Amino acid sequence: MAETVEAAAATPYPVVVGTGLNIAAEVSEALQPGTAVVLTDSNVGPRHAGSVTADLESGGWRVLEVIEVPAGESSKSLAVYEEAIHHLAASGLTRDGTLFALGGGVVGDLAGFVAATYMRGISFVALPTTLLAMVDSSVGGKVGVDLPEGKNLVGAFLRPRLVAADLARLDTLPDREISCGLAEVVKMGLLAGGSFFGNLRLIGDARTRNAEALRTLVLDSVRFKADVVTEDELEMGRRAILNYGHTIGHALEAVADYALPHGEAIAAGMTAAAHLSREKLGTNFVALHEDLLQSAGLPTKASAADPEKILAAMGSDKKRRSGDGSFDSPAHRFVLLEDIGRPVWGVPVTNEEARRAIEAIA
Ligand SMILES: NC(=O)c1ccc[n+]([C@@H]2O[C@H](COP(=O)([O-])OP(=O)(O)OC[C@H]3O[C@@H](n4cnc5c(N)ncnc54)[C@H](O)[C@@H]3O)[C@@H](O)[C@H]2O)c1
Ligand SMILES: [Zn+2]
Repeated sequence: MAETVEAAAATPYPVVVGTGLNIAAEVSEALQPGTAVVLTDSNVGPRHAGSVTADLESGGWRVLEVIEVPAGESSKSLAVYEEAIHHLAASGLTRDGTLFALGGGVVGDLAGFVAATYMRGISFVALPTTLLAMVDSSVGGKVGVDLPEGKNLVGAFLRPRLVAADLARLDTLPDREISCGLAEVVKMGLLAGGSFFGNLRLIGDARTRNAEALRTLVLDSVRFKADVVTEDELEMGRRAILNYGHTIGHALEAVADYALPHGEAIAAGMTAAAHLSREKLGTNFVALHEDLLQSAGLPTKASAADPEKILAAMGSDKKRRSGDGSFDSPAHRFVLLEDIGRPVWGVPVTNEEARRAIEAIA
């Protein structure tokens, strides 16, 4: 006679969006004050770490250390990960301590992986400071670092105890980074349809930092992403829709040696996907993509993009998988839009079709 014990314990976590948040007050619902380490980067630390530490200390937390890594993707490396882990050990942080990630997607992914692995996992709180991190990377639990062989090749799924997005932190974010975050907002609005899609009319205002427009679009994005990842946390199915525009976008980034910002790459990638949707599904959303992305301050063309190189780079996208699960089929798999709010994923696309879509944005 077999007996079953339920060991799965899904722990939902709150994502707070506001302006001028007191971190200690926000976190008090999720965690008792204790010891903390803050991980941040060299752009964000000097501007924002002081207020976070002050909030935490006035709320009864003991901040053992503020670790500041160099700003930029290169900090999502095993070397910086190792250094950060040594810092935690040297600071005396124990299993009941909490790691606060204060920064963009780089800091969030790196710190999340540190928190997931230090002493087999400690509490993690995400304090995103870029628009991209607020709307995208801080929700969904994917954390990790890059290898020389490719991006995000080492990582884990980790649920933070709390995500607190303080829109006031965007005041110091460069305009180009606002636009890059808006690329993911446009992506999710197109995937979601309904009132979120309608709210994309606020994209131009958000670009110029209108507070209400930013708040509305951040909340829409967080709700949408949370819905998608709750349904399919480990990306066995529908979560794949979030890769809309990313198949060609990732290839553009790789070909540019990551000198092209992610948001700008996926803006062009989404436009290419709109061309593909027109060719394969008979839709007509190319102009809509161009309008939305332009009002976000994003390019819809990939300048100096050599289609052959881009196709070659798409071949090495780790997310590519053919129907039988092997990784060597000649077909690409795309997320396309059947309609606004009606994405389809896993659509087989031949090399020829992909080439035409790439040429359309060249
Ligand atoms: N985990 C996920 O699900 C997920 C999803 C999307 C992207 N990502 C990852 O996110 C990373 C990109 O994130 P990003 O675009 O936030 O990049 P980022 O973290 O490098 O931040 C962009 C730049 O803005 C600076 N910055 C951040 N906040 C600032 C502020 N408030 N004021 C002034 N400067 C500020 C940073 O120092 C950096 O120079 C990539 O590594 C990507 O792989 C992860
Ligand atoms: Zn993205």
